[in-house]
Amino acid sequence: MKKSITLLFTSILCIQCNTKSKTTISDKTLGVIAEKAMVVSAREEASKIGIDIMKQGGNAFDAMIATDLALLVSYPSAGNIGGGGFMVFRMNDGAIGALDYREKAPLAATKNMYLDKNGNVDSDKSQIGALAVGVPGTIAGIFEVHRKFGTLPFEKLIDPAIQLALNGVVVTEKQAQNLNDHTPDFRSANKKTILLDKLWKKGDTIKYLKLAETLNRIKIYGRDEFYKGKTANLIVDYVQNLGGIISKEDLAAYEVKWRDPITFKYKNHRIISMPPPSSGGICLAQILKSIEPFDIEQYPHNSTEYIQVITEAERRAYADRSYFLGDPDFVNIPTDSLTSETYLSKRMTDFDWKQATKSSALSRGFIPGYESNETTHYSIVDPFGNSVAVTTTLNSSYGSKVYVEEGGFFLNNEMDDFSAKPGTPNVYGLIGAEANAIAPQKRMLSSMSPTIVEKNGQLKIVLGSPGGSTIITSVMQNILNVLEYDMSMQEAVSKPRFHHQWLPDSIKFESSFDTLNFPYLKKLGYNIDQSNAPIIGKVDAILVLPNGQLEGGADPRGDDSAHGF
Ligand code: GLY
Repeated sequence: MKKSITLLFTSILCIQCNTKSKTTISDKTLGVIAEKAMVVSAREEASKIGIDIMKQGGNAFDAMIATDLALLVSYPSAGNIGGGGFMVFRMNDGAIGALDYREKAPLAATKNMYLDKNGNVDSDKSQIGALAVGVPGTIAGIFEVHRKFGTLPFEKLIDPAIQLALNGVVVTEKQAQNLNDHTPDFRSANKKTILLDKLWKKGDTIKYLKLAETLNRIKIYGRDEFYKGKTANLIVDYVQNLGGIISKEDLAAYEVKWRDPITFKYKNHRIISMPPPSSGGICLAQILKSIEPFDIEQYPHNSTEYIQVITEAERRAYADRSYFLGDPDFVNIPTDSLTSETYLSKRMTDFDWKQATKSSALSRGFIPGYESNETTHYSIVDPFGNSVAVTTTLNSSYGSKVYVEEGGFFLNNEMDDFSAKPGTPNVYGLIGAEANAIAPQKRMLSSMSPTIVEKNGQLKIVLGSPGGSTIITSVMQNILNVLEYDMSMQEAVSKPRFHHQWLPDSIKFESSFDTLNFPYLKKLGYNIDQSNAPIIGKVDAILVLPNGQLEGGADPRGDDSAHGF
């Protein structure tokens, strides 16, 4: 019975998504299956546009640019040109790399810019409105991707997003709710009503005519239009009128950085993830290498033992994150020491099956000689065997809520990802220290973790997630779901998740998480928090099946969608 339901489910998904599929004999609930190429993203329009580019002969990098721009139009809470992101890639010959197009602090930013006269953090200023905005990196990022790896003309990649903006995007139920929830913030950030400020309902269509004009100018004049042209002027005038500090000099000076990914072994797999200024790769390595000595698959999935060992590894990794991690162009990060087996096994020596470690009794580890919710992720595999994992963000939903009306786009509130004051939590409850203090032109620490997994030198998984501090633990649990529990990609992304980040000292569980184990966990001293986490992350991932087919796992928590051919 289970098998027939599963196969039926697979066929339905494949028909809906117009995806050619061979029959796959399996007792797993599979996601969308494709033979050659796949895009999994937060919106159907964006996944389809990415696929269409590859059908025209484009590669994964061409598809990345088209998908990114389509998300800007169809998913404005996180898709963006007013924010930034990270890309991790793996070529078909095994070459790997990472692109950092994270936002930067403006030149006029200062360490204490969010402190009031009593020295307390005024989080309203770092989270909503013009002062929260970091210098955007997305347009520089996609032009750099095109310069280095693009094969189709840029015009071909931006045109679908222009058409989408002109024709309009149909609002989903989740999107209508999200937009309506943010109306008061839109008003307070912009000091007026904006295009998106009305009562939305499922089925409404939003046309972004000003955004289409902006994209058209970028199509004609290229990268400089955003950083030095009319769009730059629109941003600076609007932000400064609202009391922000971004200048023309800031935009003109913005540049991306190619970085070496963090790579490490977990059992017989190689994990490739984002290095600082993301904390993702290092924390992922710390958590997975801390639990590697345990025989994870012997613990039932999401059982007490499983939750305990992972929670204790997460607690220790996030304590290190808060102290050691920041922009590597500004601070010295002891990556090798933090991810070494010797250090990590020492960190876990006080783990006790009989009682929870108290976060108040735990701090960063000791490194001899050593002087830290709304984002979106998409995964792509192309017909040539190249793969990209991209996570991009405005930080919170709709970022700072500042909407450059004449340009038709939102600006980020990424400045809140800095540590405004040591020990004071940001919007994700993350605590930071000097390494992540604000400084002009510095990049704020991130948790975004676009990640690729290899087995025996072959591509196995492409994945990532939104969710602020919970990104790392969402990615980590999905890796374990596939590697340790042999789940299909769709099963893996659909499973309930949990999260611990050192402080606050509680395990956050999704509201769908089975509460059966909670009494025993409480007895051991774990604080359970199921109050504030209806969902944790939205993982969009691709798994290469043993027969070479691609399986898309689109997170059912959102409107996410997998397409392939
Ligand atoms: N803005 C969320 C992150 O970068 O982690």
